[in-house]
Amino acid sequence: MIILDIKNLTLEIESNGVLIKALDKVSLTIQENEIRALVGESGSGKSLIVRAISGALPPQWIVTADRLTWRGQNLIKMTRAQRQAIMRRDIAVIFQDPMAALDPSAKLKDQMLESVPREFIEGRYAWQRYASRLSISHKILHKVGIQHVEECINKYPHEVSADICQKFMIAMALVSQPTLLIADDPTRGMETNTKKQILALFTRLNKTRNLSILFVSHDLLAISAMAHSMTVLYCGQTVESGKMKAMRRRPLHPYTKALMDSAPSFSPDLKPKSMLVALDGTIPTLQHLPIGCRLGPRCPRAAKECVQMPTERSINQHTYRCHYPMHVEPV
Ligand SMILES: Nc1ncnc2c1ncn2[C@@H]1O[C@H](COP(=O)(O)OP(=O)(O)O)[C@@H](O)[C@H]1O
Ligand code: SF4
Ligand SMILES: [Mg+2]
Repeated sequence: MIILDIKNLTLEIESNGVLIKALDKVSLTIQENEIRALVGESGSGKSLIVRAISGALPPQWIVTADRLTWRGQNLIKMTRAQRQAIMRRDIAVIFQDPMAALDPSAKLKDQMLESVPREFIEGRYAWQRYASRLSISHKILHKVGIQHVEECINKYPHEVSADICQKFMIAMALVSQPTLLIADDPTRGMETNTKKQILALFTRLNKTRNLSILFVSHDLLAISAMAHSMTVLYCGQTVESGKMKAMRRRPLHPYTKALMDSAPSFSPDLKPKSMLVALDGTIPTLQHLPIGCRLGPRCPRAAKECVQMPTERSINQHTYRCHYPMHVEPV
């Protein structure tokens, strides 16, 4: 069953007096128990999608969609309070920059205790409830791999490493036992063992607690091992989407193919605007988009027809946006 359904999500931002489409007809779904990878170069709009789902966008930005629903409820039309209730109870988000997401003026302990849902807290008296919250917090902090919990928890965010802040954000997201976790590059910059530990925890929660995950990642190798499906984004558009196995075996879109070919170096260290090994050039800015297919100037398969924007097509739930897809016989 589909729990999150996004169809033709468009986000318009004003830049120097002109409206630009930072997201253009983005579509993706998350099924119950599904892990979906969301990939694309820096600047392709991944974090904007995360923010659009969670409602964390400036009010002057224009969001439209044919569908943006959580279990059939329209997220755009509902009141702020209704949306916040869903974000508190069902959907947890780990934003890309954990340092910025944490309150610099509050100790990590206070922020962690605050995120424990009331319904999980046991005890009648205040001291019992405090002890219960502390115990729940300690357990989850151990699970995300914080070794000296007692020492870290009493510090302010700026007094600990970025790694520890990231782990606190992950713990705060998981403590509410959400149905869907949206994780925006949660392991970026982490050392290999720590990263493996976090990915193993996510996989375990998916298997044992049916946690669905929308996993934004730069690390295509790691994510392709754990995700069931994948959506590829380029310049604010979904260019290909389907089951992970099918996309690994037979990517249809030249951009997905380039991502796959670059996989060993498509690591968290890939700097914004750096080149993909398999494609010349860099992702264009939203102010200077090419005419027609946005990949056109970089695409090895580009031809005359590509000056027209390709529409989305699909074969067996595998969707793509390209005039000359690979592995598909021309009609
Ligand atoms: N606050 C903002 N104001 C104007 N443009 C923005 C803002 N945030 C993001 N963008 C633009 O939207 C595009 C997508 O950004 P983002 O979602 O952060 O990309 P990604 O997460 O894939 O690296 C980028 O071109 C970026 O310049
Ligand atoms: S539509 Fe043309 S330019 Fe765009 S990805 Fe396909 S072949 Fe390349
Ligand atoms: Mg981002």
